[in-house]
Amino acid sequence: MSKITRISISIEEDVLEHFDELIQRQGFPTRSEAIKHLIRSALVQRQWEEGAVIAGVITLIYDHHKSQLTQRIVEAQHDFGDLVICSQHAHLDHHNCMENIIVRGPVGQIQQLHHALSAIKGMKHTVLSMTTTGHGV
Ligand code: NI
Repeated sequence: MSKITRISISIEEDVLEHFDELIQRQGFPTRSEAIKHLIRSALVQRQWEEGAVIAGVITLIYDHHKSQLTQRIVEAQHDFGDLVICSQHAHLDHHNCMENIIVRGPVGQIQQLHHALSAIKGMKHTVLSMTTTGHGV
């Protein structure tokens, strides 16, 4: 664990009041914890912008009865095999499936995989949720 350093900042009173209200509602135990969270969010955002290696989840919603759809999803994952760590499948109802694909790799390649999956004919909805591998934040 890194050494802890104490810092002080200057801030307008009314901004601080609003900030304290916000972090109380969100349940942060201290200002320090809330500010650390914000700083880490900014660092993760910079990783995304710089095309760093990140971790993420691609969520797919589709009807497994659609012709070739399931096969195309599997093929896309094999095409980007270096990125895919694992996937989880849930049968939401008689028609609809949810698949969560856990990925790790350069941002640009993960976005390419997401686009490839989104473009499969018959896909209902997709979401790419990006986070960090935990390094550098
Ligand atoms: Ni299913």
